[in-house]
Amino acid sequence: MDRIRLIGGNELRGEIPISGAKNAALPLMIASLLTSEPLILENVPRLADVKQLEKILENHGVDIAVHGRKPGDDLSGQRMTLHAAEIVDTTAPYELVSVMRASFWVIGPLLARAHEARVSLPGGCAIGTRPVDLFLFGLKELGAEIDIDEGYVVARAPKGGLIGKTINFPKVSVGATHTIMMAATLARGTTVIENAAMEPEITNVAECLVAMGAKISGIGTRTLTIEGVPSLHGAIVEVIPDRIETGTFAMAAAMTGGDILLRNARPQHLQAALDVLVRAGVHVAPEAGGIRVARNGNGIQPANVDTEPFPGFPTDLQAQFMALMTMSQGTSVIRETIFENRYMHVAELARFGADIRVDGQVATVHGVPQLKGAQVMATDLRASVSLVIAGLAARGETTVNRIYHLDRGFERLEDKLSRCGADIQRVAG
Ligand code: EPZ
Repeated sequence: MDRIRLIGGNELRGEIPISGAKNAALPLMIASLLTSEPLILENVPRLADVKQLEKILENHGVDIAVHGRKPGDDLSGQRMTLHAAEIVDTTAPYELVSVMRASFWVIGPLLARAHEARVSLPGGCAIGTRPVDLFLFGLKELGAEIDIDEGYVVARAPKGGLIGKTINFPKVSVGATHTIMMAATLARGTTVIENAAMEPEITNVAECLVAMGAKISGIGTRTLTIEGVPSLHGAIVEVIPDRIETGTFAMAAAMTGGDILLRNARPQHLQAALDVLVRAGVHVAPEAGGIRVARNGNGIQPANVDTEPFPGFPTDLQAQFMALMTMSQGTSVIRETIFENRYMHVAELARFGADIRVDGQVATVHGVPQLKGAQVMATDLRASVSLVIAGLAARGETTVNRIYHLDRGFERLEDKLSRCGADIQRVAG
């Protein structure tokens, strides 16, 4: 299994191009199931999760073409054409769904267009139990009949298709909002989703659906109103820049010192995180081409954070922020409110000499003057990258083992960092 070896201590200087957002690209690809015409996506990141979803969609009958890279264009996103002329199979099998939770979301479009779906329940996940009750609640509200059979959710739409309804989610869920929004585009009548997620990735997908002929209002708010239409058509849509990759590199720059321009980044997509960085004493300056991040000369100040649905501080930046706070000049309190088990990085950060206590949802981080390089390993994507950025700031050598998690969600991480002066390399084996 590949590892990352790095020597800490170098400042990061230069430009990092931000890739298309994984968490927008995945549901946008799934939206292709809703139409018999081609959907063209621009700026799709090259990631293991994207490859995995290609396999899942191909199994349903989607023809996928990824256009070639132009010479000298190695860091720009891919153009992907997805064409679901016909849905040939409405089953999403366990072998494919169990490795990636977002693949469960195909249940919405399959049910809307083919009026039936048999989708494996997603497997257990390292960051918490992550149930699907909100999805099932929403689909039932749209008139679907749902059974659980041998680990599969078997869903059937009423004769003539799903029926629009007002759905009030008891809890904000990104995946359930994507799924019900997609399903409702082809339902008969009007669906209102109350307490919808309003993450920028939801907006990207909602705007894609509108470009495909859907009628959606309230985009970017907690209430989405979707007036069903008989069919959708093809469109060309661009994947938004990845706000989590942006925040990760911003925290890396804050940890190592230096000055980097995060090219294409959109500050409004991660304002809460940028505000916290400013409180921690980091220079953050939006520019025409992106966001510039630099460390001031006074070190990192402690800051407290609660993770929250957008527009709050994202759970997907919690591990990276914790890595940053291990070097602050004081004590920070972090409260993870989205997932119940998202602190696996704590034990690994301790290997660098970090001082962190966890009590339930609350982690208390006492800053230390210097981290020291270590052998570490992580069990999820964002936890893995928090170890990389800790290693960049630590004295001496760090090896991050089991990096396949990183390849799921960060495009050419070591390449982007080494271009800015980091001493980092992938070691095969
Ligand atoms: C999305 O996951 C993201 N994944 C996650 O990113 C992200 O951490 C999460 O949203 C929160 O922002 C993708 O976009 C592909 P949720 P999702 O449903 O949709 C509970 C990463 O590292 N819940 O908003 O699965 C759930 O257990 C990943 O890129 C129910 O109780 O998250 C959690 O506590 C990790 N019942 C909370 O809601 C349900 O039916 C929010 O989860 C569904 C969810």
